[in-house]
Amino acid sequence: MICLGIEGTAEKLGVGIVSMDGEILANVVKHQPLFGGIHPREAAQHHAENIKDVLKEALKKAGLDIKDIELVAFSKGPGMGPCLRVAAISARTISLSNSIPIVGANHCIGHIEIGRLVTGAKDPLTLYVSGGNSQVIAYDSGRYRVFGETLDIAVGNCIDQFARNTGLGNPGGPIVERYAKRGEYLPLPYIVKGMDLSFSGLLTAALKKAKNADIQDVCYSLQETAFSMLVEVTERAVAHTGKDELLLVGGVGINRRLQEMLALMAEEHDVNFYIPGPEVMGDNGAMIAWLGLLMYSSGTRHRLEDTTVIQRYRADEVEVNWR
Ligand code: ATP
Ligand code: FE2
Repeated sequence: MICLGIEGTAEKLGVGIVSMDGEILANVVKHQPLFGGIHPREAAQHHAENIKDVLKEALKKAGLDIKDIELVAFSKGPGMGPCLRVAAISARTISLSNSIPIVGANHCIGHIEIGRLVTGAKDPLTLYVSGGNSQVIAYDSGRYRVFGETLDIAVGNCIDQFARNTGLGNPGGPIVERYAKRGEYLPLPYIVKGMDLSFSGLLTAALKKAKNADIQDVCYSLQETAFSMLVEVTERAVAHTGKDELLLVGGVGINRRLQEMLALMAEEHDVNFYIPGPEVMGDNGAMIAWLGLLMYSSGTRHRLEDTTVIQRYRADEVEVNWR
């Protein structure tokens, strides 16, 4: 079976095509050019204008015709309502006009499942860090459970807002990473509450520091603080769950310093550490297609009226029937 997946939770529009044996035949991602924060309606407009071309390009890359697609999946949430609706409407149109089944997939679980597919990790504890999410997740008794998460903004959002407000540019992650290559540590608020995290106070303090400190020092300190917080919670979840694998997913996972810090922790705990390639680390359509295949082949059937979107769709709401 071949599945086409449409990802559209925020500013990126992705179309991926994956086969049941786990081969990624195409994975095209188009970024909306951003000059400030993400505006949901403008991002949705971008997706609506580009879906036809992205779809065409993905089919061409895979060497397939739309008639060869046997299942269509879309990101049901979490995400921005207007963007999610474009992905859902596109998927419904494909489903109806080609008489093929449709499946709505949880975006967070999509990140985890594509990570498991490409790395070969079997039952990992996952750190999922992106612009909209920061969670520590592991599978247990039929569901993906959230062991720790941010109480306010996501770590990627913290870094992006810092870079935007200091004029470093957009998206902030890779820019701050470059500036943080060397620097002196300046104390910043380190906020871990039990298994949960908070990044908004860190953002405010870093912005304040940037007014009169060296920007390299602030970038360095921002990364060190935020990533140490993430590693601390992840480490405790490793110890608690007893999992012997660790998987890193989400756009912030591309960061080398975060990878290095997690690798050290994993080594100390004798845990195998898996990092997917950058093409599947951030938002993409293949992760939605693959999760769609896993769900459908385990018996999930969605009627058209089940294909509504859910803006706050948590990973732990989904009954996992494919593991
Ligand atoms: P989600 O919907 O899962 O929240 P998203 O829309 O934020 O995802 P992703 O592609 O998963 O999309 O992640 C984008 C985030 O990753 C941005 O915040 C970006 O700054 C960050 N990022 C990308 N590269 C790096 C890097 N090298 N270092 C740190 N952060 C990075
Ligand atoms: Fe994502």
